[in-house]
Amino acid sequence: MRIVSLPDKLSEGNTFSMAVEDQGQGRTILLVHAFPFDHRVWEAQIKGLSTRFRVLAPDLRGFGRSTVTPGVVTMEQMADDLAAMLDALAIDEPVVLCGLSMGGYVAFQFVRRHRQRLRGLILCDTRAASDSQEARENRLRTAERVITEGTAFLADQMLPRLCCERTFRHQPEIVTKLRTMILEAPPEGVAAAARGMAQRPDSTPLLGQIDCPTMVVVGQFDAISLPEEMEAMARAIRGASFAVVPDAGHMAPLEQGEHTTQLIAEFASRL
Ligand code: MLT
Repeated sequence: MRIVSLPDKLSEGNTFSMAVEDQGQGRTILLVHAFPFDHRVWEAQIKGLSTRFRVLAPDLRGFGRSTVTPGVVTMEQMADDLAAMLDALAIDEPVVLCGLSMGGYVAFQFVRRHRQRLRGLILCDTRAASDSQEARENRLRTAERVITEGTAFLADQMLPRLCCERTFRHQPEIVTKLRTMILEAPPEGVAAAARGMAQRPDSTPLLGQIDCPTMVVVGQFDAISLPEEMEAMARAIRGASFAVVPDAGHMAPLEQGEHTTQLIAEFASRL
């Protein structure tokens, strides 16, 4: 894991430290994690892809070992952080960006703001629509509660919907790993990202404008980003392919690590 220092207006001392797993050589695949996790959701992909590609798996602002910025951290800010990180690592060639859930919300902002840096896009278990008013209010309540209570309640609230039944039964270690990551997540960082997600714009109108090769991937039993919703997303993006990962829920890259890695590798190899 390396720490990259980036100039930053939002941080004390005007420096933002971004922790990033940087492994392998070749074309770059940038893996962007879900909420409220960190780069560890990509362990199987880091291992499986870094034999053929350079794999970057950062901790987004407020998570893992990256600087925490209290308040609100928008998806736009997270996308700009990723671009700044690529600058700092002197990566000029376009990358394949793969965003999981909140990582997908960040990916939409990356398309809007840094399109020229993209060779290809993978949208994994995510949604284009913004939040309903009710969902927005829930997020703001979650942010407050995390600050006062810590993240344990969030683990209890989120875990039942993150994985499919088969994972709960046959791969309990994955559920344990997800719980550990939630418990370790910095409360101020989690709250800031929850507020940022509440503010995110509707990306549905963007779908028809995405003009880089795109693959949409969803776990067969994803209860949060429903397969039919993701299939409609793929249809709205010109030329996008659509893949369903069997026996997986919202956390397809962990629940079916090898299968998801294979999909990403095949997609990236074609570009
Ligand atoms: C995630 O997995 O990143 C979250 O489910 C996203 C969300 O809360 O909308």
